[in-house]
Formats: sequence, C-alpha cells, structure tokens
Amino acid sequence: MKFFVDTADVAEIRRAVAWGILDGVTTNPTLVAKTGRRFEDVRSEILQLVQGPVSLEVTDMTLEGMLTQGRQLAALGKQVVVKLPLTREGIAACKQLTDEGIRTNVTLCFSANQALLAAKAGATYISPFVGRLDDISQDGMGLIADIVQIYKNYGFATQVLVASVRHPTHILQAAKLGAHVCTVPYKVLDQLFNHPLTDLGNEQFLKDWAKVPGQA
Ligand code: E4P
Repeated sequence: MKFFVDTADVAEIRRAVAWGILDGVTTNPTLVAKTGRRFEDVRSEILQLVQGPVSLEVTDMTLEGMLTQGRQLAALGKQVVVKLPLTREGIAACKQLTDEGIRTNVTLCFSANQALLAAKAGATYISPFVGRLDDISQDGMGLIADIVQIYKNYGFATQVLVASVRHPTHILQAAKLGAHVCTVPYKVLDQLFNHPLTDLGNEQFLKDWAKVPGQA
C-alpha cells in the first residue's frame, strides 16, 4: 500500500520524505489555508521536494474553470495530479482531463455509487473520506470495502485512495481491505512507528551492550 501525506505544510513533508517511506502528497484548500502562505509558493516547494504524485485541488466549480485550472496545475510538473470534486462538473472534467493524459484524483467521495462514476470517468484515484463518515456515525471503512469489491468486479484501473484518515487503525483496516493508497496526516504517519515494546527492547539492548567488555 502506498502512503501519501495529507498536508500542505512543507516542514512536515520534508520530515516524511526523510523517513524514506513516502510515496506522495495530497493537499486541499483547507490544508493550504492552514499554512497561511500563498498557494503558488507552497505548491512549488512541495513539487521540488516530492517526486511521487502530488494532488493539487481546483477551486473553480464550473466545468470550464476546472479544465482551465486543471491544465494549469498539470503544467507545473509531471508529479501533479489534479484534484476534482465529486460533482457533475467534476466528473465531466475528470473525463476530459483523463482523455488529455492528465492524472486526476476525484475527492469528497462518500458513496460507492459516486466511486463508480469516478471510475467510469477514468479517474486515476478516488478519495473516499472515511473519517468524515465515521464522524456522522456511518461506516467509513465499510465504504472502502464496497469500492474495492466493485472495482475488482469490473476491473477498473482507478486506485482507491483512503482519505480523511484519523488514526492508525484506519490504515491497518485499509491495508487489510487491499486499498491502493492511504493519505495520512503527518501526526498519524508518525504514530505508526510507535510501540512500547520496541522502546523497551531497544533500551534493554543498549543497557546490555554497555556490559559487553570493551563497549562501555
Ligand atoms: C483528502 O485528500 C483530504 O485532503 C483529506 O483527507 C480530508 O481529511 P479531513 O476529513 O481530515 O479534512
């Protein structure tokens, strides 16, 4: 399973890149706003840091506007994946941009039927938001299971990108279901490393190593 980091914070991306396990980045307008920086500056720094797919989202909700923004974003680098909302215009833009050879990530997916629309439009990625569904007492991971099954049934090439991840268990469940990608907030990615037995074991090894003659 691929790991994307879900942030527009360049310092976080730099730290995740240094771990050597990062496959890509997803951003959205909220994440960019949180940085307090200009989108132009943030995206160009991200594109310098990351060789894998970087999702940059359109903000014009008309079909023509999405196509114009999508083409401009795609021209910024070969890593760019154009992020489009799951609206009628977004799906039409997905089809058109896909036909032009531009990679797309259809976002704000909350149902399996929506995921079917994105796959039919040729989306590179579909982003179902598991955390936001859990927040309203719906089964986020159940949606992932449905989409993985449906895409398998028909051999769709669209990759399931699990989004709105809130905790490490979401990642474990996504991996067990065979989702292609998880986009994960930096804090949750960092949590994946932690296990108290790893810390205890390491502490003990170092204590014992100090007892080895010549190693103190
Ligand atoms: C996906 O690409 C989105 O950026 C993100 O996962 C949304 O997560 P949230 O529900 O925590 O805002």
